[in-house]
Amino acid sequence: MKRSRAKAKRKARTLTTREAKALRIALDSTAFRLEATQDLARVGDWELDRHSGRMRWSRQLFRLFDRPESLGVPDINEALGYFGPASLERTRDAFWQAIDTGKRCALEQEVILPSGQRRHHLTAIVPVSDDHGQVYRLYGTVQDITERRQLEVERLEHLARLETLSRHLVVIEERERRELASALHDRASPNLAALRILFANLVQALPPAVHAEVQPMLDDAAALLADTTAGIREICTNLRPATLDYGGLGPALNEYVTQFRQRTGLDATIEVAPGTDTRTLALASKTLCFRLVQEALTNCAKHAHAGAVHIRLEREGDHIRLTVADDGVGFDLSRLGEAGSTPGLGLITMRERVELAGGRFRLRTRPGDGTEITVALPCLPQTTASQEPTK
Ligand SMILES: Nc1ncnc2c1ncn2[C@@H]1O[C@H](COP(=O)(O)OP(=O)(O)OP(=O)(O)O)[C@@H](O)[C@H]1O
Ligand SMILES: [Mg+2]
Repeated sequence: MKRSRAKAKRKARTLTTREAKALRIALDSTAFRLEATQDLARVGDWELDRHSGRMRWSRQLFRLFDRPESLGVPDINEALGYFGPASLERTRDAFWQAIDTGKRCALEQEVILPSGQRRHHLTAIVPVSDDHGQVYRLYGTVQDITERRQLEVERLEHLARLETLSRHLVVIEERERRELASALHDRASPNLAALRILFANLVQALPPAVHAEVQPMLDDAAALLADTTAGIREICTNLRPATLDYGGLGPALNEYVTQFRQRTGLDATIEVAPGTDTRTLALASKTLCFRLVQEALTNCAKHAHAGAVHIRLEREGDHIRLTVADDGVGFDLSRLGEAGSTPGLGLITMRERVELAGGRFRLRTRPGDGTEITVALPCLPQTTASQEPTK
């Protein structure tokens, strides 16, 4: 008993002058550091007594609101006068929300300074409750985020410009492919056809003795001519799949997959699920689907060591879903672009073009477990669909 009273006495003793002085110095130094930090970070803090509406502002807060300290701390109503109409409503709501729920919250506000200049603040509101859960005090911080907001706006503008540019590039790339296909077709195809006729006439005109003598060379020349004609036709199809214009996406993919199978010996198959009407896709999306299959199959031939690759087109709500899945070696996505390897552009371009078209792109792969690319492209709204070319 005696001991605890002595303890209480020790606790309650008044501070010596030296101790009080040391404490004051420590307090002053903390206050100085806090003020300097607020100044550097452009952060101010405040307190609000819920019932009296009286506030306490830190010195930095006066600076953030461009308010002379000689005017004193505003009450809550005067403080609300600093906000633009839209922010005013949201600020009131945020205060009431903090009071009603007892939970902290944060909001961005537009502030109009006395000079008319507009700034952006990020305000955090922290409610303090009594033993009965009633909020009696609020405190919080205010940070000037004008520069950050401005940078964000500029970043979004750049992004939008980049998107426009990418869209434009896709259009230009497709146009150039078409022009190249037309030029190649116009210059080479008629000449090759004429050569074939000339060659046949020449073969006919040869005396039988010479004919027999040069037969192996004639066979070689005929094979070369046929191979060149087929090669140019294939290049033209890759550059501009005419079947896409005439027959639509299904037939164009069928034709391409058949060519791919013959060229690579891979077991490539395509399936269009019943009820999938690719006419509901915009022309640009159909061309995109074709390019995606081209790149996915090329990847499969280049990298997958696959035995089979399967392509599937199906309707999925208001989207058309395209899947290209192979049973090859797969790969570790996280190791793409590692030091020492030159990353390709195929996958990145695929994803970008799909997202630009408002679609979704997904890639599933694992070493030893094949690769699957799934793309969902939005169908045209009903009314627009009926105005698109029917194929
Ligand atoms: N089907 C696949 N099977 C196995 N690995 C694949 C497959 N598809 C892509 N890869 C791996 O992913 C990498 C990136 O593919 P991407 O198409 O982006 O580039 P690339 O084919 O190497 O070059 P580019 O397409 O620019 O000519 C490939 O180098 C390969 O390692
Ligand atoms: Mg590739």
